Amino acid sequence: SYFKTMGSNSRLKHLIKLHLIVGARPNFMKMAPLYRELSLYSEKYEPLIIHTGQHYDEKMSKLFFNDLDMPKPAAYLNVGSASHGKQTAMIMERYEDLLLAGDKPDLVIVAGDVNSTIACALVAKKLYIPVAHLEAGLRSYDDRMPEEINRVLTDRISDILLTPSLDANKNLEKEGIEPDKIYFVGNIMIDSLLANKEKAETSNIFSNLNMLPNDSYALVTLHRPSNVDEYNCLKMLLIALSEISGKIKIIFPMHPRTKKNIYELGLSSILNTSSNLIITEPLGYLDFLKLEMNAKFILTDSGGIQEESTYFGIPCLTLRENTERPITITEGTNQIVDLNVESIVNSATDIIEGKNKKGKIPKYWDGKTAARIVKVLDDWFDKRERATEIIE
Ligand code: UD1
Ligand code: UDP
Repeated sequence: SYFKTMGSNSRLKHLIKLHLIVGARPNFMKMAPLYRELSLYSEKYEPLIIHTGQHYDEKMSKLFFNDLDMPKPAAYLNVGSASHGKQTAMIMERYEDLLLAGDKPDLVIVAGDVNSTIACALVAKKLYIPVAHLEAGLRSYDDRMPEEINRVLTDRISDILLTPSLDANKNLEKEGIEPDKIYFVGNIMIDSLLANKEKAETSNIFSNLNMLPNDSYALVTLHRPSNVDEYNCLKMLLIALSEISGKIKIIFPMHPRTKKNIYELGLSSILNTSSNLIITEPLGYLDFLKLEMNAKFILTDSGGIQEESTYFGIPCLTLRENTERPITITEGTNQIVDLNVESIVNSATDIIEGKNKKGKIPKYWDGKTAARIVKVLDDWFDKRERATEIIE
């Protein structure tokens, strides 16, 4: 059999082949530490990065392979942008072709909640390939958020559910997922953060942006469809930012979705009124970490940035109605802000005036998540191996 042991020292006949799926920006910082950790056990595991091409701009993709020191993907599916149905379908078609054309992996590992996550999980599962979901169990309980649908469905069909915090375990158990599939391993994004913090200190982003090292500034990112696809909401957010920039410098690395909408909806003039509002292209991971660490506060609708700001102890104002990462609020520095100009400006002003929310770092956000995952995989494959032997 595939997993048959040879003698008492339990040597595998074949390497255990793993597909690590990446597609969109937040996937890279989740898979890089896992890839690195698995590579330490090259006598046992063969990890392969599969890139769907959901994000493809140099600044949304290739930059991260350099910053995070990841190898070139073993396969690139080149799907690009499309509507949800088309994009998900295209990933499924191409990933299925890849699986049918070559040796199937022993496990497919997907991360987070993007379209690439559910698409590849679904394809693998129907070909009887087990699936592990990294960052399982997060819930916003808001079905209008496309990611919520991706999360719930991916968790439902996954064989190994790797959670970042204990609230996620509870969510999964409530949904009837068997407890023995659920493993609390901690937050893998913090593995990347800790592995790159020192390198990030050496980034030249301040001088590149003509800033002084001790400049006080707020860091902003926005890309949720609920915020940036609709005229009134986007306009309201830009007005709020423009007002805040009267009090503090704002650095706003802009996601391509947001940039496109600002132009298409004719809203760019709001941003041109303030020279204190600096808009940049999406930034590399090291540059972005440096900006996060040194910010007075962060305004965002990103999932990952809510977590990173909690780790750094930097106040974060989340511009959304809810969050799938409530631990950043109950334990960390995160706060949900009502979506109107007055609330946003008032919350920002409070922080500028020194009313900061203090927080602590949640359990297992410690840089050792990838190591815990490899331990889970070791045990999981051992168990399967024993089961196979019993059947024989
Ligand atoms: C996707 C994820 C979201 C995640 C975000 C991270 C889904 C459903 N959404 O949202 O969960 O938080 O990535 O950044 O999977 N575009 C480019 N260049 C690129 C990529 C995108 O110009 O390299 C533009 C295109 O106009 C595209 C739009 O951005 O239509 C949206 O891209 P898409 O991947 O569909 O969704 P995101 O908003 O990036
Ligand atoms: N990030 C980055 N450059 C940027 C904006 C974000 O490197 O210009 C990083 C950020 O530090 C975090 C991740 O991208 O690690 C978050 O991705 P994003 O906000 O796109 O997605 P989400 O987490 O909301 O799904």
